[in-house]
Amino acid sequence: MRFVCFFNQFNHLLVNTTARELNRRSMACSRYEYVKKYEQDDTILPNVWIVIRIDGKKFHKFSKTHNFEKPNDENALNVMNAAATAVMQEFRDVVLAFGQSDEYSFVFRKDTAAFKRRSAKLLTYVTSLFSTSYVMQWTKWMSVPLAYAPCFDGRVVLYPSNENLRDYLSWRQADVHVNNLYNTAFWKLVLESGFSNQKAEERLRGTLSADKNELLFQEFGLNYNNLPAMYRKGTILLRKRVISSGDNDEKGRQAIVQLHEDLISSHFWKSHTEILGKYVPGTYKASEALPRLVKLQLSTKQEQKQEKQEEQKNPENLAGTS
Ligand code: GTP
Ligand code: MG
Repeated sequence: MRFVCFFNQFNHLLVNTTARELNRRSMACSRYEYVKKYEQDDTILPNVWIVIRIDGKKFHKFSKTHNFEKPNDENALNVMNAAATAVMQEFRDVVLAFGQSDEYSFVFRKDTAAFKRRSAKLLTYVTSLFSTSYVMQWTKWMSVPLAYAPCFDGRVVLYPSNENLRDYLSWRQADVHVNNLYNTAFWKLVLESGFSNQKAEERLRGTLSADKNELLFQEFGLNYNNLPAMYRKGTILLRKRVISSGDNDEKGRQAIVQLHEDLISSHFWKSHTEILGKYVPGTYKASEALPRLVKLQLSTKQEQKQEKQEEQKNPENLAGTS
């Protein structure tokens, strides 16, 4: 009997304490909760192309510190391509990515519901995933150690029509051409003709594309069009079914493939109808051996482990095998 009485008292105390605690907490909640109203709704409008473009911060310094080849470092560009591939693997609604120099644009399908179309969530997730993947991929492609953490800014741009989207991508690809032609001529003058940076700038001031092409050909015997397409056109990443054998019935495994085609021409859009149309990945048949970026995606865990061991034994053998 005395035990029951004690239990009742204890129970009463417990119930009262819990109620008081709950009351205190809910009061605290209601008192401070108003601050949530300061958060703005950033849901993106329906039915628009969402483009997220990231860009390396102070890469003129980063490229110098890590001794990038001038004007293009194939391995450094492949670190960018591999980081962008990781973003596309995570976000299956990215139908195309386009990269050049230290920037990458990711195009989300118009009807994506990723992160309920919340702008800040999409932007921060893509930018941080790209940055961390860049660091993770570094040793796979580069033989110099990473000296400090690279970082990237990002922005979200919306395009209502297919034409706007194509114009956006054409703008970025035209930028590759303008920059690369200039940089190729500039570094030829500096590295091979011994011009100072200032003298090379003066030599190129006011020149048109045709003049720079002529200069490269006449003075350096270089036909600009023979430079690797990745330098002249940038890199387009698409999700495709990869056919690796000659067998026409092969279904192929999905992977992100890198192309260096002219996306300003309508031929590109006719060859890759899945981008603007109903999204079903097209097929990809490599004309030569599969690029390393694709091979890495299709290789088994065992093969990846072997490659990692090779990489640790001989880092310089792997860097550069694109
Ligand atoms: P912010 O973006 O404003 O922070 O400046 P940034 O220094 O990153 O310049 P920007 O994005 O305009 O241009 C990228 C720079 O990265 C180029 O000007 C080059 O200096 C450097 N860069 C990118 N890719 C390569 C490469 O393959 N080789 C070399 N040598 N440099 C590169
Ligand atoms: Mg930059």
